[in-house]
Amino acid sequence: MFFSLPHPQAIADYVTTRLIQLIQKKPNAVLGLATGSTMEPIYEQFCRQVAKQDVNVSELTTFNLDEYIGLGADHPQSYHYYMRQYLFNRLAFAQHRTFLPDGLCGDLQEQCERYSRLILEAGGIDLQLLGIGSNGHIGFNEPGTPFASRTHVVALSEQTRIDNGRFFDSMDEVPTQAITLGLQDIFEAKEIVLVATGTNKAQIMADLYHSPVDEAMPASIVKAHPHAMIIVDEAAAALL
Ligand code: GLP
Repeated sequence: MFFSLPHPQAIADYVTTRLIQLIQKKPNAVLGLATGSTMEPIYEQFCRQVAKQDVNVSELTTFNLDEYIGLGADHPQSYHYYMRQYLFNRLAFAQHRTFLPDGLCGDLQEQCERYSRLILEAGGIDLQLLGIGSNGHIGFNEPGTPFASRTHVVALSEQTRIDNGRFFDSMDEVPTQAITLGLQDIFEAKEIVLVATGTNKAQIMADLYHSPVDEAMPASIVKAHPHAMIIVDEAAAALL
């Protein structure tokens, strides 16, 4: 389940190959997408290869993991903006089949229920991409989140706000809440690919490697999944 490749580019090549294989087999596949700097080289390589191999992405449905509450789609740090920048503006995705939670939605509870329901109605996620937070969160499921959780509103931990603060001008601007797919939603994906790169992920990957499957370590749910891969580069594997 854990395996290591030399560097982020090798991971981007590997994950892109897997994604394109899936799309060629199932052009209307449902992809679970993640954001964060770990995903950037993956999306870069994916865009390059899709164009080069003329892969049809227009029948895909995508669901993003999460979004900050309080940031609109045009805020440069929103995940809507990120997705347009790295993927949706670059390839011919069908806009009406690319879903992200709405960070400005008035009725959050109703939206959470609808988001999990939409995924089920789409037939479930075929392949879920995941990064990992330095405290073991996936999506924005912070330590202690029930494994049975569905899409929900979370209060971001101080650690997560500090980690993600690097993208904002000041800590005051870092949102305190987010909407995230729940751990149960993630676990129901038919296949999961979790990626971690860089020295700042070395400690959490060692912790995850040794952790039992336990809610104190949200990412450990991936270890219980029958079709999951946890891919690390050499830097993130340094303490394994
Ligand atoms: C955020 C996202 C996660 C992501 C994590 C790691 O908290 N909600 O989905 O995995 O950041 O991001 P990075 O890849 O930038 O380290």
